[in-house]
Amino acid sequence: MPWNTPGPAVTDNRMTMAPVPRQPLRTDRLLLRPTKAADAARAFEIQSDWEVTRMLAQASFPPDRQEIERWFADHPNEWAAGSAYRFAVVLDGRMAGLVDVDGIGGGAGSLGYWFERAAWGRGYAFEAARAVTRFVSGDVGLVKLVAGHAQDNPASGRVLAKLGFRRVDTVDLFSRSRNEYISQCRYDRLDER
Ligand SMILES: CC(C)(COP(=O)(O)OP(=O)(O)OC[C@H]1O[C@@H](n2cnc3c(N)ncnc32)[C@H](O)[C@@H]1OP(=O)(O)O)[C@@H](O)C(=O)NCCC(=O)NCCS
Repeated sequence: MPWNTPGPAVTDNRMTMAPVPRQPLRTDRLLLRPTKAADAARAFEIQSDWEVTRMLAQASFPPDRQEIERWFADHPNEWAAGSAYRFAVVLDGRMAGLVDVDGIGGGAGSLGYWFERAAWGRGYAFEAARAVTRFVSGDVGLVKLVAGHAQDNPASGRVLAKLGFRRVDTVDLFSRSRNEYISQCRYDRLDER
């Protein structure tokens, strides 16, 4: 069973909900706006930093510009289909990172995030991810989120703990960026209705 497949008690709220408008989210310090194709250039820059991309198990390193462009170009379709909601995090007018929930199905989805190194250590990941988890819980109607991080990425584990995620287990996962198996710590969060 895929990791983010929910148990039988979880219902698929998308069956009864109208499409979710593409809308920005605002926090005290950040603007989060739905991603657009032009964001690919900044994403390529950010993922050209090994310290960022080594923590992203599905990303290639060095990053592949065309693959990233194709990925961003598809984001509006994913949003329309309700399969993924991805936000560019804008700081001082510039994209500093991305927070998304993808793999959506059966009322569940998978949370992810990455930021340029210059933005680390100021609480931005937590602040942005909290806005996105509230959005998918409130506006989209998801009732379960899953997430994971490499064992050597305690900062991400701390972000998840602050968001109320519960550590579930640790599995071996192939990291595309590192080209080797890593220990991946997996988490979930159930939202009561
Ligand atoms: C992981 C990442 C998103 C964190 O971003 P951030 O904006 O620095 O995160 P925050 O400031 O919101 O929170 C980080 C927390 O981790 C803590 N932390 C940082 N480094 C740590 C370490 N080595 N050990 C333990 N805790 C650590 C911070 O103190 C903070 O906790 P606090 O608020 O209780 O003090 C960022 O480092 C990043 O983009 N890394 C590369 C990509 C990545 O790892 N993405 C996640 C993949 S699972």
